[in-house]
Amino acid sequence: MQAQELPDADGFVAAAPADAIRTDQITAVEIAGRPLILTRCQGRVYAFSARCPHAAGDLSQGTLYRGRIDCPGHGYRFDVATGRVLWPADEICRLKQYPVKEEDGVIKVKV
Ligand code: FES
Repeated sequence: MQAQELPDADGFVAAAPADAIRTDQITAVEIAGRPLILTRCQGRVYAFSARCPHAAGDLSQGTLYRGRIDCPGHGYRFDVATGRVLWPADEICRLKQYPVKEEDGVIKVKV
């Protein structure tokens, strides 16, 4: 999916219909030339860079289950709710997260 609108007054850009973002599903979008992934976890929508913080693996090709995303690159596992790495023990790596808001059935992201 590719965002099509200009940013609103707060800098948020429409990214996807809200009902298209589902729990334990990764939705790839591109905003301002940046590849992002969207997902829903416990009712809240999250937006992250699609580039893994370890070595830029493509997280849009990762697997997501119960709020944990596994990178296809080297198998790092991240917690969607915090962006922190769960495996291996590496406190330096953290998903790059973007602010999200849901408005009129649309998910908007600020990049
Ligand atoms: S690139 Fe994601 S774990 Fe290495």
